[in-house]
Order: sequence, then structure tokens, then C-alpha cells
Amino acid sequence: MREYTDANNKAAASKNRRAKLTVRERLQDLVLSTDQALEIKNKLNHEIERGLGKDTHDTSSVKCFITYVQDLPNSKERGKFLALDLGGTNFRVLLITLAEGAHFHMDSKIYAVPKDIMTGPGTGLFDHIADCLADFMKEYDVYKEKLPLGFTFSFPCVQEGLTKARLSTWTKGFNCEGVENNDVVKLLKEAIARRGDIAITVCAVLNDTTGTLMSSAWVKPNCRVGVIVGTGSNACYVEKLENVQLWDGPTEGVPDQVIINTEWGAFGDNDVLENIRTEYDRTIDRESINPGKQLFEKMISGMYMGELVRLVLVKLIREGLIFGGKSSDLIQEKGRFYTKYVSEIESDKQGEYHSCLQVLEELGLGGVATETDMADVRTVCELVSRRAAHLTSAGVACLLDRMGEKDVTVAVDGSVYRFHPHFHHLMMDKISELIDPSIKFDLMLSEDGSGRGAALVAAVACRDR
Ligand code: GLC
Repeated sequence: MREYTDANNKAAASKNRRAKLTVRERLQDLVLSTDQALEIKNKLNHEIERGLGKDTHDTSSVKCFITYVQDLPNSKERGKFLALDLGGTNFRVLLITLAEGAHFHMDSKIYAVPKDIMTGPGTGLFDHIADCLADFMKEYDVYKEKLPLGFTFSFPCVQEGLTKARLSTWTKGFNCEGVENNDVVKLLKEAIARRGDIAITVCAVLNDTTGTLMSSAWVKPNCRVGVIVGTGSNACYVEKLENVQLWDGPTEGVPDQVIINTEWGAFGDNDVLENIRTEYDRTIDRESINPGKQLFEKMISGMYMGELVRLVLVKLIREGLIFGGKSSDLIQEKGRFYTKYVSEIESDKQGEYHSCLQVLEELGLGGVATETDMADVRTVCELVSRRAAHLTSAGVACLLDRMGEKDVTVAVDGSVYRFHPHFHHLMMDKISELIDPSIKFDLMLSEDGSGRGAALVAAVACRDR
């Protein structure tokens, strides 16, 4: 245990004690009012308009990339597909068979992407992907076949068609040299050619949000939005072609719609969210590998949620508002409060602190935590996760109102949405509060968007050939 000694902080601590501030009162800046949520919804809409506009696209923080996916699935897609899924904590290779009556079979294997590959040269990353693909094709006995492949590459890309995507900028802890501004399909094909022993046909490259939307649309034809709240956060939606000023594809004989990958994670990178960002958000950003970028994502997603909670706790310790001002080496360590802890702590029944105590023991604080401290730790988790759910809801409400369709399914995936015990309900309530009341919506957990979704985009592409 380490007593906090700094004189200024001691003074702050005694001031807070005198003022008898509760933790909740101290952390009011983490609470988003309905008015603020509505303001965010409107600002996001403005940025989306600018992202879609020819003259404003370059300066908008929300890029609204065209995906070139215009047809949604019609349940008639069939066949055997390979899929690659790169973009979160793991890399996966999948073999998917789409069959009659929305039935499908899927085999998949997870491969680690070592830290040195995540930040090493791009050729190293793509060689690793090709090696994993070859390993998988051998294991599943499709080594000799030339299968169609959908590549889920979940980073912001400027697409120039269904099979060409230039990486605009790395996000989520990746930073491989020589990939930005290059076509990732070409880099993949080159890596496969370097091996020379396997053959594939890349039919589509897509974002995980698009996969999520497509995967749900296969079973729910009114699905029009795909959202990810996982390591990163982003959304895509179906936009009318007439609103997409940068559309350069055909306009005759094609559906008058296209899926737009908003890349809302970068919302706020032009300062429009400064009024709601807190000192904790600024610290997260300053200490990230991409300062000034992905500011909305940094307030929402799993890559940052645990660290936000940790920073708040450290501040409360320093001010003497929690654990009697006692600290531990582990709580002071960057990245040591995992995002999964937030879900675990909030899964405890009200008034019970089983998981909370376990987490605090893991962090060397078990001995100093009183029941009030544990209630306060839970409050901090709730404030941070609620804010994330409310920000995501403002985003979804914006998209629903923009589209104006009267009954829409929103497909959602990602570890935070999946594992946080209240995220779904928080979003349902907040979206209802923020949208045009004549719109009906539902949030649906999308099963395996990046796998099944990739196969579907590839299948729709093949279907239309
Ligand atoms: C990041 C990526 C985006 C992806 C999201 C969720 O925001 O830039 O492309 O969709 O994470 O994985």
C-alpha cells in the first residue's frame, strides 16, 4: 500500500471531505443530460451531411465512406466462402457454407496478432494473414480449392469499388508502416503470391459494421443499420444514393441506395465534442498511440472503457474520496483495469459486491475497501458505461431519424454490447427518448457479422455477376 503524500492533493482531499462530496456528485461531468445527447445527435447529423458532401468531405470528422454494397441479402445466397476478419483483438479465418432457408454452417479459427506485428511493417502483417489462411485451408481441407473470399478489414478505408479499399488511417492500436493510402486487397494478394501455394478469389472487402448489418439483414429484412461497440466503435447505415454526392458508380439499373460506413469513431476530431470531453478523456487521448484521433470512439469503446474507470479511480484516491486515500501499485498501472471488469462489477446484484471485491483483490485493494468504497467503484463503472451507451444511442438515434423509415432493425455487435449486462437496455431506453416517436426500432445482436456478413457480401457480389 502507498499513502498519497503530495501536498496539493492532500489539500484537495481535505477540501472534498469538508464539502462532503459524494463520488456521484464529484463526477457530474461524466453524466450526459438529454439536452446534451440531443445536441450530439444534431452535431453528428451535421458532420454526416458534411462527410457525404463533395466540398465538405475532406474537412468533416465523420468521413461517411461509400462501401459499394447496394444489395441487401434476399436469403437466396448459397455457396461456400472463405472469410478473413481483421480489426479487433483477434484475427480470424472462417469457412462458411450458406444454404437453403437462411441455414448456414461455419468453421472458424482464431489466430493471435502479436504486438510486434500490429506495429511492425505492413508486409509482416499481410504475410502473417496469408500464413494463417494457408494453415486454415490445410486444416479444413480446402487447400486445393479456389474459393471466393470476403475480407472484413475493420479500419477506415476509402473504397474504389467492392474489391478495392485504401486504408485511410490506422485505429485501435494498429500502426503498420506502408499500409496507409494503399489498397489492402492488393497487399493481401501480394502476400498470398509470395507464398505461392494457395489460391483465392477476393470478392469483397468490407468493414465489420457492414458485415454486421448484412448478417442481420439475412434474417431481418428491415435491418438498415449496423453498429459495433467492441474494441472500437462505429456504425454504417443505408443511405439514399441522391444524398451521396461522392457517388461515382452507376445510377441506372442499380438500387438507389448504398451502405455508408460512417466511421463515427472519429466524430469530434475537429473539436465539436470539446464541451462534453472530460479530463479523463483528454488523458486517454494524450497517452494513446493516435492522439487527437478517434475522440468519440475513445469515450465509448472497449479499448478505453476500463482505462477511463481506472483514471477516475486514481483521481478519487488522490482526492481522498475513496479507499481512505490508499492506493496500490497495480491501480496506478496504465491499462491494468480491464474493460471486462466493468461488466463483471455491474453484473453483481444491487447491494452485493462479489465480483467487485474479486477485482479489487486482483488490484491489491481488497484489504482497504469498505462496502461504501465498493458501492463507489460500482458507481464509477456505471457512470462510464452509461455515458458510452448514451453516446452510442445519440449516434443510432441520429441515423434512424436521418433515414426516416418507420420500422427498422438495428444490428449490433462487439464485446461491450455483448458482455455488459445493461448496455442493451440503456440503449433501448435512450434511443426511444431521442428519436422521432413515430419511428419503431429494435436492437438485435448480430450473430457473427464479420464472418457470416463477409460471406454474404461476397455471395451478393457473386450473385450479381
Ligand atoms: C474502428 C475502425 C472502424 C471499425 C470500428 C469497430 O473505429 O476505424 O473501421 O468499424 O473500429 O471495429
